[in-house]
Amino acid sequence: MSISFDPRNLLASMVGEEHGLTRAELDGGKAAALAALKSFRQGFEEGKYGFPDLPGNKNLIQEIEFVAKKVAGTYDTVCVIGIGGSALGCWAVDCALRGPHPVQGTHSTKHPRLVILDNVDPDFLSNALGSMLPKKTIVVVIAKSGSTAETMGGFLIVREWLMNALGKKASNRIIAVTSEGRGDLKVLATKEEYVTFHIPENVGGRFSVLSAVGLVPAALIGVNIKKLCRGAAEMTESCWSEDLDSNIALSAALHHWLIWTVKNKSIQVAFSYSNFLWGTAFWFRQLWAESLGKAKDRNGATVHVGQTPIAALGTTDQHSQVQLYMEGPNDKVYSFWVVEKPKKQVKIPKAKLGLDGFDYLGGQSMGKLLDAERRATEAALATSGRPNCTFSLAKVDEEHLGAFFQLMEFETAFMGELLNINAFDQEGVELGKKFTYALMGRTGWDEFKERFADYEKKRG
Ligand code: PA5
Repeated sequence: MSISFDPRNLLASMVGEEHGLTRAELDGGKAAALAALKSFRQGFEEGKYGFPDLPGNKNLIQEIEFVAKKVAGTYDTVCVIGIGGSALGCWAVDCALRGPHPVQGTHSTKHPRLVILDNVDPDFLSNALGSMLPKKTIVVVIAKSGSTAETMGGFLIVREWLMNALGKKASNRIIAVTSEGRGDLKVLATKEEYVTFHIPENVGGRFSVLSAVGLVPAALIGVNIKKLCRGAAEMTESCWSEDLDSNIALSAALHHWLIWTVKNKSIQVAFSYSNFLWGTAFWFRQLWAESLGKAKDRNGATVHVGQTPIAALGTTDQHSQVQLYMEGPNDKVYSFWVVEKPKKQVKIPKAKLGLDGFDYLGGQSMGKLLDAERRATEAALATSGRPNCTFSLAKVDEEHLGAFFQLMEFETAFMGELLNINAFDQEGVELGKKFTYALMGRTGWDEFKERFADYEKKRG
């Protein structure tokens, strides 16, 4: 497994002192980075944070593989019902290892597709249901809280759809992933005897891709989850190192922290130069936004801190976003995601048309073109004083993907420590959820019904 981080275009020597980091700034930040590592490690050892341990859970891997083997060949669709951290990791895995949906090929019992119901848009839901056959579908319902309205509503619809076709046998086609000791999903799963996997209490939704949340759907679509976890475990080991040259999560956190807080880059563009990492870019967007966008620091001071993550795709977004990136406000840092070895080499034919716009490309590869475009964009940004850095994966396979997930999660955790905030809660999404419960008539939410009425009154 080989993943590297190249911060050279974040340096003042490349982009100037106003926008880039000086040696003195980096040296000055090292002590804070090491303190962040130490405090996160301490929290981990106290059992507060569970994600670093996930890849080492061999029993879980075995149990999931056992279940996946038992049902293999009986379905052509895996239907995941979940949202946020209970959905984005599954998409990232599917997209990275099997390709974005339109290029995955025909689905079959040997090559099941993944349908993720992570929205309550009725048109989306009904079209999705219309595209699946209940007798050939395995349903995985995922909710750590066991009560998220979107997931519960979606599941009730899918459960009825299954029951109409299969009667009582519907329960055999449902797998639940939820918390062990709380939530109505757990109650229903027990009552209806679904195969159930539990999410550890100390693993938050957006850090749960290597728990049953990501591993169950992954195993069901045929991903080698052992390898996924092996790569992640290897990365985990290096993330505990105090040597910044070998701990790229800590090094990236230090660079990103300084460029954000000292050079005021309040936006990070995750610029993937791989369609296969497009799902991962959206997974990262949630991880970074929900973990680091906070009102208060750990001392209770109001800070309203956050760096807005944006997902961009190269080369596609060179023709959509780069004009803004080059000439708009210099408020962004660009993190290029590069895959050194594409899954396939695609040669451009030598057509010899006598037309320069075509002929110089003949005989070269699309991989070379992609690489040239990315290097050209990095250079264009750097020479315009726009700081950027590059994460390189030798290839996209299970091991590299698992390692990349873990790298990004550790970087996020270290960043939380550097900012002195709790990266593992999400109080900010609670109020909207409570208003929704009140609007949908859930019992016990009258206070929020009244608060919502006050808000409407104020609007006139
Ligand atoms: O990262 C998080 O904690 C959230 O994004 C949750 O994953 C999301 O709100 C869904 O929660 P649940 O799994 O309880 O349905």
